[in-house]
Amino acid sequence: MNILVIGSGGREHAMAWKLSQSPKVQKVFLAPGNGGTASAAAKNMGIENLAMTDLHELAQFAEEQKIYMTVVGPETPLAGGIVDIFRAKNLRIFGPSQKAAQLESSKDFAKSFMKRHNIPTAEYQTFSDIKEAHAYIDLKGAPIVIKADGLAAGKGVVVAMSLEEAHGAIDMMLSDNKLGDAGARVVIEEFLSGEEASFIVMVDGQNVLVLATSQDHKRLLDADLGPNTGGMGAYSPAPVVTPEIHARALREIIMPTVKGMAADGIPFTGFLYAGLMIDDSGKAKTLEFNCRMGDPETQPIMSRLRSDFLVALDAAIDGKLNEVELDWDPRIALGVVMAAHNYPETPRKGDVISGIPADGFDHVTFHAGTSMDGDQLKTSGGRVLCVVGLDHTTRGAQQKAYAIVDQIKFDGAQYRRDIGYRAL
Ligand code: AMP
Ligand code: GLY
Repeated sequence: MNILVIGSGGREHAMAWKLSQSPKVQKVFLAPGNGGTASAAAKNMGIENLAMTDLHELAQFAEEQKIYMTVVGPETPLAGGIVDIFRAKNLRIFGPSQKAAQLESSKDFAKSFMKRHNIPTAEYQTFSDIKEAHAYIDLKGAPIVIKADGLAAGKGVVVAMSLEEAHGAIDMMLSDNKLGDAGARVVIEEFLSGEEASFIVMVDGQNVLVLATSQDHKRLLDADLGPNTGGMGAYSPAPVVTPEIHARALREIIMPTVKGMAADGIPFTGFLYAGLMIDDSGKAKTLEFNCRMGDPETQPIMSRLRSDFLVALDAAIDGKLNEVELDWDPRIALGVVMAAHNYPETPRKGDVISGIPADGFDHVTFHAGTSMDGDQLKTSGGRVLCVVGLDHTTRGAQQKAYAIVDQIKFDGAQYRRDIGYRAL
């Protein structure tokens, strides 16, 4: 059977790589894919790029080509209603409906949902009036967190350590309209401290299948310094998610969310990603929901998944996730993101990439912002590659990943040297 994966990042490359290993899968189409999924190695695995992004055209392709199932990587097509469009044509697709995707596409929706269903999260208020927003900040003091209501490609959250910064963020969103409609409403919330982890599950509307835990590294520079990014590296499993926290996150966050969405008449199907903040006492609060898998978390997670991903997706679409159990490689998978010059501001494109070795038993390289220019592989986006190393120790997984990173060359490459440090 043939599968369609929507997206072009490292997350989608990892999903396609995993799906292509299923004995039932002949071909995995990636729309639009990247330079890695256009390579000869990918072709040998049955992976093929499809130069298409229009949601209706994609549905038509899936219908005409008798695509067995479609999996959606990023949030934008989900918020654009791709799942509704496919379902209207009776096509099998895994992801949330446009309404359910509001858990990610509207911070105000997510916050009021959590409040209504008693799901632990930071205290907040939503504003569209600039004067009231400034007054609320003066009342609450710093540190404080300002979030654009809508999708802002990772640029919508300002963790303000000072009042000045907080007021600046309000002006940026509500008066200068720097984020357009996404920033026309803002959520202002209490600052939470602790350690973050990514808790990602599959949901079929009712049943939940938990994926391996992971931890992202959001800041550009070592020791969590520098600007926020989409994620500079991730590893799985994340020891900060102890069995106790795992059970609590399921009981206090995930299950009430799945039940609450169903009760509200918007059953959630798809990947549900709760960004957790875990405090010193071991209590987890929800920082955010994403209605998709994380990037780069997916790269180490897929690297560890031993079960057939297709079987899990199939069960999810059929509402039978309760019948699935997943088998994980006990090794630690650790992914290091190599980003382009000047990421995250305005990443440079067109740098020639060389030295990517063939994948092996303990390392895999997933592509993101790459494209083929003739027979040359070049950078074409902010996050360029994610190199995953696997080993029985975190240190070993780190060494395996960085041994590959050190072989890969492109001008201006930026990467952290300390991915996984919290697990050491
Ligand atoms: P979000 O997109 O909502 O996850 O926010 C992006 C990042 O901002 C998170 O991964 C955290 O590092 C940080 N952040 C978000 N909300 C808070 C909060 N209430 N307190 C402290 N940090 C936060
Ligand atoms: N790595 C964070 C995210 O995918 O949102």
